[in-house]
Amino acid sequence: MPANAEMIDASEAEMAALASSCARQLRPGDVIALHGDLGAGKTTFARALIAALGWRGEVPSPTFTLVQSYEPPDVRVPVWHIDLYRIEGPDDADALGLFETDAALVIEWPERLGARLPHDALHLHLSGSGDAIRRLTWTVPEAWEGRWPPHSPT
Ligand SMILES: Nc1ncnc2c1ncn2[C@@H]1O[C@H](COP(=O)(O)OP(=O)(O)OP(=O)(O)O)[C@@H](O)[C@H]1O
Ligand SMILES: [Mg+2]
Repeated sequence: MPANAEMIDASEAEMAALASSCARQLRPGDVIALHGDLGAGKTTFARALIAALGWRGEVPSPTFTLVQSYEPPDVRVPVWHIDLYRIEGPDDADALGLFETDAALVIEWPERLGARLPHDALHLHLSGSGDAIRRLTWTVPEAWEGRWPPHSPT
């Protein structure tokens, strides 16, 4: 993908490849905000990213647990996979410990955090549903310059 791309249309396999490339760039403390409607493919992206960090097991959707954490040595970088769909408001995130961990955060429904969403988050917006190709657009903060969009996986 050209470094100046502003969007990409991707099949599920292509989206997984992007997530894997992203995983290679991931550092502790990073925040990835995954935006998109129900079924847009947020969990699918997170699954591919966590697998690429080295996780060999299943990656359940955090719909009910809200947080699923993955720690070294099972993964290269500690990462929390978070689904905020069910929280009542930004203050609930305190109880989850999101603002205290050094783990990388991959957050579904990040808009639930309102102004408390870290300002250096990489924002990925997924649109599309069903069997259709998904469109991915993004907003890249300074912390991610040179890391997103990822270079071709070769
Ligand atoms: N890029 C893609 N192209 C086509 N289909 C996709 C793509 N990504 C995911 N899908 C399919 O879309 C479905 C929903 O994906 P997923 O569970 O990841 O959505 P979600 O955004 O996490 O939804 P929720 O808001 O309910 O958590 C899955 O069946 C998956 O196979
Ligand atoms: Mg999901």
